Amino acid sequence: MKIDGKHFRTIWVDDDGWTVGIIDQTKLPHAFETRGLKSASDAAYAIKEMLVRGAPLIGATAAYGICLALREDASDENLEAASNMLLATRPTAVNLRWAIDEMLHTVRNLPRKKRVIAAYARAAEICDEDVEMCRMIGVHGLKLIKELARSKKGKPLNVLTHCNAGWLATVDWGTATSPLYQAHEAGIPIHVWVDETRPRNQGAALTAYELGHEEIPHTIIADNAGGHLMQRGEVDLVITGTDRTAANGDVANKIGTYLKALAAADNEIPFYVALPHTTIDWTLQNGFEIPIEERGAEEVTQMTGRTSEGEVITVDIAAPGSAAANPAFDVSPARLVTGLITERGLCEASLDGLLGLYPEMIDDE
Ligand code: MRU
Repeated sequence: MKIDGKHFRTIWVDDDGWTVGIIDQTKLPHAFETRGLKSASDAAYAIKEMLVRGAPLIGATAAYGICLALREDASDENLEAASNMLLATRPTAVNLRWAIDEMLHTVRNLPRKKRVIAAYARAAEICDEDVEMCRMIGVHGLKLIKELARSKKGKPLNVLTHCNAGWLATVDWGTATSPLYQAHEAGIPIHVWVDETRPRNQGAALTAYELGHEEIPHTIIADNAGGHLMQRGEVDLVITGTDRTAANGDVANKIGTYLKALAAADNEIPFYVALPHTTIDWTLQNGFEIPIEERGAEEVTQMTGRTSEGEVITVDIAAPGSAAANPAFDVSPARLVTGLITERGLCEASLDGLLGLYPEMIDDE
């Protein structure tokens, strides 16, 4: 998608043919800065410190992390060490494990001298496939938006989203935002309620930034405002992303998603979750088995922002000495999810629904 009218992906290979370029998302929306990753440790650092974040982009960065590791040392021992280092960066998004497994599968049986080229080729494919899957999520989600927009009789369809499941969380297009971008392109009037998404504010900082650069009408709201707006009939549809979807259709996503799912159910508002197949964890029977990342207390007790003089500073917002807890994700049970929007189409949030779209996962034994 575009920043100041120029098309970007979130990850690329620099002109030298091997350095991995990323947008440093910790600097947004106050500054647009790119970084070059030159080692597997750089890639692990970028994921852990959230220079890159969002389930699909975490996977893509890990894939390039393996490439960088192999450039340094293409031995089996280094491959294993780099895989373990990358896997340990963030626990919830299953795309990380998926991408590393893909890379290991690609290079493991190759002679050492062929590994680097094969790895870069597979990492590039993983990125291209992600772009195509997200584009198709948009194609399928657009049908849903068109249907709901009909009853609005030309008035904007109000869509609420939580966190950033936009193009910055993927390689391009986004998951939850892809249908929104495609609806906007198709001339369907939409307006997006953007949950600020405390504590790290990915909604206010990233989703609003994206939508603004694509000129999509949107309004940032405090996370606590969503239920009220739903009661007032000011939300027509909720679409979020997910970091891991269990085989039964339970979805883990950024903390606070569950409360939106509850409020949407109470107000009979459709609540959809958008995901590529790389986010499905077929090994988990339900969402309560998904590991939930616990992050630092300072993300709750402090906030970072820009002063009117343009300086970016971090300030304390809590009573000194109080403890703070920071679970980063929660699980919305499948019963609260109206449907899943995948690259293969829409389905019920259930094992049967998912297997209907991914019949190759049916276990014949
Ligand atoms: O902690 P983050 O910023 O990596 O969390 C991101 C989310 O929760 C997204 O909604 C999710 O990864 C889906 S991204 C397409």
